[in-house]
Amino acid sequence: METIKKIDKLKKSLIGKREGTIGFVPTMGYLHKGHEELIKKCKNENDTSVVSVFVNPIQFGKGEDFKEYPRDPKRDSDIMKNLGVDYLFCPEIKEIYPKGYKTYVNVKEFDKVLCGKKRINHFEGVATIVLKFINIISPDTIYFGKKDAQQLIIIKKMVNDLNLNTVVRSVDIKRDLNGLALSSRNTLLSESGKLSALKLSQSLMYVKEKILNGQLSEVKEIKDIIKRNISKEKGIDIEYIEVLSLKNLTELKKVDLNNTIIALAASVENVRLIDNLILGEI
Ligand code: PAJ
Repeated sequence: METIKKIDKLKKSLIGKREGTIGFVPTMGYLHKGHEELIKKCKNENDTSVVSVFVNPIQFGKGEDFKEYPRDPKRDSDIMKNLGVDYLFCPEIKEIYPKGYKTYVNVKEFDKVLCGKKRINHFEGVATIVLKFINIISPDTIYFGKKDAQQLIIIKKMVNDLNLNTVVRSVDIKRDLNGLALSSRNTLLSESGKLSALKLSQSLMYVKEKILNGQLSEVKEIKDIIKRNISKEKGIDIEYIEVLSLKNLTELKKVDLNNTIIALAASVENVRLIDNLILGEI
């Protein structure tokens, strides 16, 4: 594996690789098994694999955890070497946003719902860095997890709207044995915090079964059941529970089995967690 910090060097290294396919996985590091799923898929499906580790400052709002975001470059690099990654791209902030940087990308409306309500400019930061990476790397395929479903939907929309020559592939949410969605932020939780957090995935699984059985379809009822379920557990601060169309992120009255996302965000021990249930193809 070659570790590269400079944009020009990465571009030059990839010139000779264009006869084959190039796959790319953007990450903010502190890798876990969820990231590994994306990397393995990227490796399996491409001749050359590029993974970035960059904690992108412009997608963190004031008071968010940019400084506290967990980092372990040595461990990340070892994991990637073991997985057989070809290029690790880990630029410094000034390489990506030099002094005087001015250009930002917005995917309008899609960035105002779910996490975008509270995290103002978060998705602008995500879309901007992903577009920059796509332009630097020109990957045939770029990989995203369904864990951050709104991010995935926004990137798909940007790639389509801006006619980018990259295919966006999605990877299912990787969970621990108890069902908790893996996240770099989980390491900030105590053991009892992790147990409390299980209520999030459990309540999604509970409504999933009822929806698939045909016992539940009204959005209001779904939201109420999830809220009631989560509220039984002390120490969970719900930010939102939403049921939206998967394609446009607009509100629904009834579940559409081919086009629905049930998404939630909540804090446990001041750690912000998200999870979702997707019905349909994304
Ligand atoms: P990060 O949180 O490091 O996530 C990198 C990728 O891993 C994202 O596509 C995310 O959805 C995926 N991922 C995280 N946890 C997962 C899980 N449990 N199962 C499956 N996939 C999972 O998302 C970002 O970084 C950044 O916003 C980034 C896209 C790199 C832009 O800065």
